[in-house]
Amino acid sequence: MSGLSRRADAMAESVTMAVTAKAAELRAAGKEVIGFGAGEPDFATPGHIVAAAEAACRDPKAHHYGPAAGMPALRSAITGTAPAMNAEAGQVVVTNGAKQAVYQTCSVLLDPGDEALIPAPYWVTYPEAVKLAGATPVAVPHGADLKVTPDSLESLRTDKTKMLIFVSPSNPTGVVYEAPEIAAIGRWAAEHGVWVLSDEIYEHLTYGGAEAVSMAAAAPDVMDYYVHVNGVSKTYAMTGWRVGWLIAPSAVAKAAASLQSHLSSNVSNVSQMAALAALEGGLEPAHVMREAFDRRRLRMVSLLRATPGIELVEPRGAFYAFPDVSELMEKKGIASSVDLATILLDEIEIAAVPGDAFGAPGFLRFSFALSDENLEEGLTRLQEWAG
Ligand SMILES: Cc1ncc(COP(=O)(O)O)c(C=O)c1O
Repeated sequence: MSGLSRRADAMAESVTMAVTAKAAELRAAGKEVIGFGAGEPDFATPGHIVAAAEAACRDPKAHHYGPAAGMPALRSAITGTAPAMNAEAGQVVVTNGAKQAVYQTCSVLLDPGDEALIPAPYWVTYPEAVKLAGATPVAVPHGADLKVTPDSLESLRTDKTKMLIFVSPSNPTGVVYEAPEIAAIGRWAAEHGVWVLSDEIYEHLTYGGAEAVSMAAAAPDVMDYYVHVNGVSKTYAMTGWRVGWLIAPSAVAKAAASLQSHLSSNVSNVSQMAALAALEGGLEPAHVMREAFDRRRLRMVSLLRATPGIELVEPRGAFYAFPDVSELMEKKGIASSVDLATILLDEIEIAAVPGDAFGAPGFLRFSFALSDENLEEGLTRLQEWAG
């Protein structure tokens, strides 16, 4: 008898934990494990942002509680990041990372018995946030292009479907939906009164001519049922600062702010001032980072595609490649991608994340947020091992 609530008991243990623990064990034993698991930029936060935080530390105004929904100046600046929404500052809630925005959106919109459609492969937090709200996550299978369509969504819609959680560019696949695809999905949602939580955290990390199109721009009909989630983590290399946000219809934003006022209150004022400096400072640092990611992406695509038993849909956003390794598993007689990831760690000391974690067995996720040298060395080891 654990004594845990049903909600806590229902939380899935991370499938990646075994691999992560194993990688840590090997590193502690002095092995040079090459990590392809990073979910964050391997760059420092730009200097002007850090300087704004330093100034905030010295400003007594930043030393006290602030409004739970965020500093007015930051909320106002955030409205400018989603021009298609034409939102007011009152529709913005500043959260502890986009993760908390996802959690709060689910908590204020979902009831027990409701269903939320989640295209697979999905970011691990989505189903857990839905379950913590007492609702049921429903994974939507992907096509060969790793995308879903209005038809695949419609095939799983029931009278309990309340929400769709949509992300483009995607973690874990790096897939970027085209504007007409997003528009069609938005129209489907609006037609059926399904809420859309649109996670646009990787919007500025796209490559090879791909463009991240906001659902608000592609499908304005969706606006009454639309929650936009974003943050500074990935765009400005600020994962540790914990600043994200949601922009939603006023009633939803108000409920999310009220929830936050009881849960965690305002995000650290110092981090909020840093986020404001990031937004006001423009996207130049993100473009510099993007150049490095793109160079690594192209190298990763070419090395993975030259590896026997691996099929890869080209990632055009975020910083992940998500190859299908089922043929490689079959050839080597390996039953699951968790086993494959463990074997790769043991035998060639590279750490990738098994697709099972994202609802996609038979795949591995490789992050290209690591140095060019390590990327080259790790994927060359993989090629030799697979051949
Ligand atoms: C798709 C997606 N959304 C949200 C987040 C969370 O971002 P934050 O650091 O702002 O909480 C991540 C982080 O990995 C992510 O991959």
